[in-house]
Amino acid sequence: MKYLGSKHKLSPFLLFAISSTQKGELKEKVFCDLFAGTGSVGNLFKDKVKQVISNDKEFYAYVLNRNLIQNSKEIPNADEIIATLNALKDKEGFIYKHYSVSANRGYFSDENAKKIDAIREELATMKSSIDEDTYFFLLASLIESCDKIANTASMYGAFLKNLKASAKERFVLQKASFKKSEGLHVAFNEDANELIKKIKGDILYLDPPYNKREYGLYYHLLNTIAL
Ligand SMILES: C[S@@+](CC[C@H](N)C(=O)[O-])C[C@H]1O[C@@H](n2cnc3c(N)ncnc32)[C@H](O)[C@@H]1O
Repeated sequence: MKYLGSKHKLSPFLLFAISSTQKGELKEKVFCDLFAGTGSVGNLFKDKVKQVISNDKEFYAYVLNRNLIQNSKEIPNADEIIATLNALKDKEGFIYKHYSVSANRGYFSDENAKKIDAIREELATMKSSIDEDTYFFLLASLIESCDKIANTASMYGAFLKNLKASAKERFVLQKASFKKSEGLHVAFNEDANELIKKIKGDILYLDPPYNKREYGLYYHLLNTIAL
């Protein structure tokens, strides 16, 4: 997804620059990404190191990383569950009532807002009967799919006056991806200043915000959906 400060485009450079400073086998290293955002940098190293420790203090970012980094084994029946969620009847729930065109906060078309509500409510119901890996895989799938049809100029500080072309497209829940891996990778949802006192690693990658503004201001709606 498009993300303020994403290092996705710098991936080849970061992989080369970080790997070439390391003495010894990369396979033996613990890689710590404490301001992980979308998780793009941790994911770069997920299949190259012993362990990735990923962290972000925003909950939506934790959800993305809990799937992308910590999930390592195939999710059983993923296609069937996604198909069932996509077939749910629309619901006029919280997102429709507060963040749709009809609510005068046109972050989502009415139709898409109702679909998001149906899926989010079903996930809340399913939570107690599915394992954590599956829950976060589905929640990350929802966040990423919502972001694709959000009526914004990429961040959520404001919505656009008129529905843009991608926001008019029908919402479809798409599977969030993650690499399968043998490593015991882990995601945290903490202040990096606190987490760093508790973890040990070999490579420390720090990519903090460029100013004092909280990411929660720009991505509040993703937190609203995730929390
Ligand atoms: C520049 S972005 C990181 C982008 C990331 N490298 C990527 O490629 O997507 C900074 C991130 O730091 C997070 N953040 C800000 N303050 C934090 C803190 N005190 N502890 C942990 N994460 C924090 C923000 O939520 C944001 O996701």
